[in-house]
Amino acid sequence: MDTKILLTEKEMATHWYNIQADLPEPLPPLLHPVTKEPTILPPPLFPSALNDQEFSKERWIEIPDEIQEIYKLWRPSPLHRAFRLEKALDTPARIFYKYEGVSPAGSHKLNTAVAQAYYNKKEGIKRLATETGAGQWGSALSLGCQYFGLELKVYMVKVSYEQKPYRRIMMETWGAKCVASPSKDTEIGRKILAENPNSGGSLGIAISEAVEDAFKRDDTHYSLGSVLNHVLLHQTVIGLETMKQMEKAEVYPDIIIGCIGGGSNFGGMILPFAKDKITGKKPKLQIVAVEPEACPTVTKGLYAWDFGDVAGMAPIALMHTLGHTFEPPPVHAGGLRYHGMAPIVCHLVKLGFMEARAVKQLPTFEAAIKFARSEGIIPAPEPSHAIKVVIDEAIKCKKEGKRKDILLALSGHGHFDLGAYEKYLTGQLEDYEYPADKVKEALKHLPVVNR
Ligand SMILES: Cc1ncc(COP(=O)(O)O)c(C=O)c1O
Repeated sequence: MDTKILLTEKEMATHWYNIQADLPEPLPPLLHPVTKEPTILPPPLFPSALNDQEFSKERWIEIPDEIQEIYKLWRPSPLHRAFRLEKALDTPARIFYKYEGVSPAGSHKLNTAVAQAYYNKKEGIKRLATETGAGQWGSALSLGCQYFGLELKVYMVKVSYEQKPYRRIMMETWGAKCVASPSKDTEIGRKILAENPNSGGSLGIAISEAVEDAFKRDDTHYSLGSVLNHVLLHQTVIGLETMKQMEKAEVYPDIIIGCIGGGSNFGGMILPFAKDKITGKKPKLQIVAVEPEACPTVTKGLYAWDFGDVAGMAPIALMHTLGHTFEPPPVHAGGLRYHGMAPIVCHLVKLGFMEARAVKQLPTFEAAIKFARSEGIIPAPEPSHAIKVVIDEAIKCKKEGKRKDILLALSGHGHFDLGAYEKYLTGQLEDYEYPADKVKEALKHLPVVNR
């Protein structure tokens, strides 16, 4: 078997896959933050094409040619067989990883950034506002906006803004404006700073700032890099390509493992495979989502109605949540610090099609280093959580003398996370326990929804 299983540009996906066509039970609605009645995506914030995709029940949605042309700059992305990691672990398991770090922005986020910029431009929007955690999403959207001549303002979670200055410079290189969140540029930012001048920020706060910015300007829409159905839809190019690549290798995975922050790279990878599980074609397929112990949304959160943002301006979704006011500890996987989770992922967990596990920061970095020293790629801290579980599963295979085919969603590289690697390598990185009291407090503030 080849080390890299590649597709040609002609073999790229021409349509995104929409799981909503195949769910045994439909997704719960999104609710309006004030009336608490079913709602669409707020038109002042989103173009109608993305709203249509959000609620569509069509199984296949065509990828416009302009988007496909841009995807060709880095897609199809490679599927690797991790021969060297397998050897290092001395495991009978076969490990495969789909690598999204080959995109110019360094992660899967560009798949939806390009699509969102395209649909906004098409509907006459001139400027977008967004939030970013680790800076991966902000940098991807900066490039997406650059491709289509849109302006962009990025509210970057303050801990990451301070830990990762190069991500900001990347955004600026691609023409965006980036500020640390909470910022003085919005009412909600000023309010939070007045209460806590040292706030390290959170994705929920940054979302509130970007939403407020977009609400206040007619030429501006808001853009979200994860969680929503249309974002997961755009990411299905990952899983669709992987299916073809695995077919070429004549392998079907026994277990698929990915990290979840808001659920988009994981959803993009697993949804085409989840269809096989739902339809009964592959009932034994195991699907595992991995999150940090410091922000364990699915493993320890409630499955409840909650706001998507801190200020309660975003729609309310039924999802696993730690409470929209929860501010997680400053783990280095900035992209995994969101209080909620993609409703599609939560729905699949509830229906029993997949499971979630939580891992701590130190073993995550230990796994990342093992991966870097065998396969060469230095992974981002986010997918390193998934690598930790891949290694656990491969070791289990060794103990049990079983050969399993393990597929990893490797969502991005960690070239801008070397500060975190340095801390780990010099023994300065710490593990954060599950912040039970903070979660308990945040869960007191869930909206009351009578449904
Ligand atoms: C490389 C990478 N992987 C994963 C994530 C988590 O987001 P999601 O769950 O939407 O894929 C992020 C978020 O910033 C990221 O940068």
